[in-house]
Amino acid sequence: MNTSIKVFDNTDQLAEEVALLLKQLNAKPGKKPIHVALSGGSTPKAIFKYLTLQYGTSLVNSRFHFWWGDDRCVPPSHDDSNYKWANALWLAPINVPHGNIHRIMGENDPDDEAVRYSNEIAMHLPVENGLPVFDFVLLGMGDDGHTASIFPNQMHLLTSNNFCEVATHPESSQKRITLTGKLINNSKLIAFISTGEVKAQKVFEVVKMKNTNLPATHIQPVNGELVWLLDKAAASNAF
Ligand code: 6PG
Repeated sequence: MNTSIKVFDNTDQLAEEVALLLKQLNAKPGKKPIHVALSGGSTPKAIFKYLTLQYGTSLVNSRFHFWWGDDRCVPPSHDDSNYKWANALWLAPINVPHGNIHRIMGENDPDDEAVRYSNEIAMHLPVENGLPVFDFVLLGMGDDGHTASIFPNQMHLLTSNNFCEVATHPESSQKRITLTGKLINNSKLIAFISTGEVKAQKVFEVVKMKNTNLPATHIQPVNGELVWLLDKAAASNAF
């Protein structure tokens, strides 16, 4: 596993790095689909806005298929929906074809949706090491060290043999659908994005101390590349 850490002065520079990673994916020869799983939460919203504003429709083309690392079990119009914000801020404004957007259907029964999404992944993604393989997974990290919806009190979601599982937010008890750790770790490229002082301690604990009590520490691609994209504030305890 190849890990790199990049620290940026601000979110725009961090977003520019995400654009570079997408350009590198698109530069790969051939016409095979490129499967990208997006993160939820607030951090990526600024990135989605930047990509739309700076690149419009020039960055991604019809090869790109968009998925989610997790989503909340709410309707797509709900403000908590990770799909809602990615679609509103980036995918819809750049006219990503409907068939290339594979949202988690948060309005469905959670147990049924975990199975349905797993099947949709299995139907579309190529297989490597016996598992579907994403080309690029964008992840955030909560200030409790969770990632996707794999929370510190649900570490079994890291090693489940299912591609997706139902998770429960430890404070709100909100149900979520999450990719599991094994599937995430089968990706070719994983980028954590983390900004702000509030993340600095957990970035230190995960990146420097490799605290195995924290789910994000266990995101270690088997054959792929891991990159941490941080702003100075999030990196302030670790570097
Ligand atoms: C979610 C995310 C989650 C998020 C982290 C960081 O659905 O909330 O997938 O893993 O990335 O909680 O969230 P912020 O970017 O809001 O800090």
